[in-house]
Amino acid sequence: MNSEEKFKNEILSKIPLRNEPPLPNNWLHLEMLERFKVLQFAGIKEGMNVLEIGCGAHAIATVPLAYMVGETGRVVTVDLARWTYFEEIVKSAGLWKRVIPMKVDAQNLPFPFKSFDLAVLIHGIRSLKNEETIVKVIGEMLRVADEIFIAETLPIAKTRGQEAHLEMYNLREEIFKALYGRKDDLHYFPLEKLMEFVEIAGGKIKEYGTFEPNLPHFLAYIPREYIEKIREAEKREKLLKKWESAYEKLQKYGEEHPPVGWIKAKGK
Ligand SMILES: C[S@@+](CC[C@H](N)C(=O)[O-])C[C@H]1O[C@@H](n2cnc3c(N)ncnc32)[C@H](O)[C@@H]1O
Repeated sequence: MNSEEKFKNEILSKIPLRNEPPLPNNWLHLEMLERFKVLQFAGIKEGMNVLEIGCGAHAIATVPLAYMVGETGRVVTVDLARWTYFEEIVKSAGLWKRVIPMKVDAQNLPFPFKSFDLAVLIHGIRSLKNEETIVKVIGEMLRVADEIFIAETLPIAKTRGQEAHLEMYNLREEIFKALYGRKDDLHYFPLEKLMEFVEIAGGKIKEYGTFEPNLPHFLAYIPREYIEKIREAEKREKLLKKWESAYEKLQKYGEEHPPVGWIKAKGK
């Protein structure tokens, strides 16, 4: 059995299916499988002490990380706000003993010196508000860990399904800004720009690459009702038109994971 099959059998099979229509009930399992695949490039070994930035409410990367560090490893997970299902999901996977959650702003990590073998930021750049915050967070990761690993979806579409994902995903930044005045789900950055962030933050890039998950991706979809709530009529109409077009493509081609870029770096 290869490592992916083992992860599915030993861990994913224990996590209950979700009931969150219109998402398919195995969306969380498929997303975790993508995180498991991309983490193969991170150089994680048994017994490592790993810091995870922006773990999110569903512990999507936390579960594969906690599995990969083994019985003697630890994953300290940091998030500003989103914890709703975190404990329940990590416990269902049987990995709670390996995880230490902390509600902290990653711009100011509460560790005075290097305390981790590795700090990771997996599909989390997109939630870091703006470029200044991105650089600050990466700087903090470099300060507290021997090495860092960053992975993020790239704005590249080679298939119609990937194009459908990007078209729907790219509506999110504008919708959240119009509704709440703050940007979330920033447009994906090209790999060169991600590398620039690491360098500005003081990192020396050791390795980088791109990877094709070959998996569906369901998380770009945003319900039409969000746009209907936008007060400014012109903006609302413009976004509704774009949403209709993106939705039609999602229905027709499905939503496929675009390529993912990854970077491994350490402090200079
Ligand atoms: C896209 S989500 C979760 C990504 C998750 N790692 C995955 O693999 O799907 C990114 C998370 O980063 C968190 N976040 C945003 N800004 C943050 C900050 N300054 N400090 C800590 N967490 C932050 C958000 O609350 C959100 O839960």
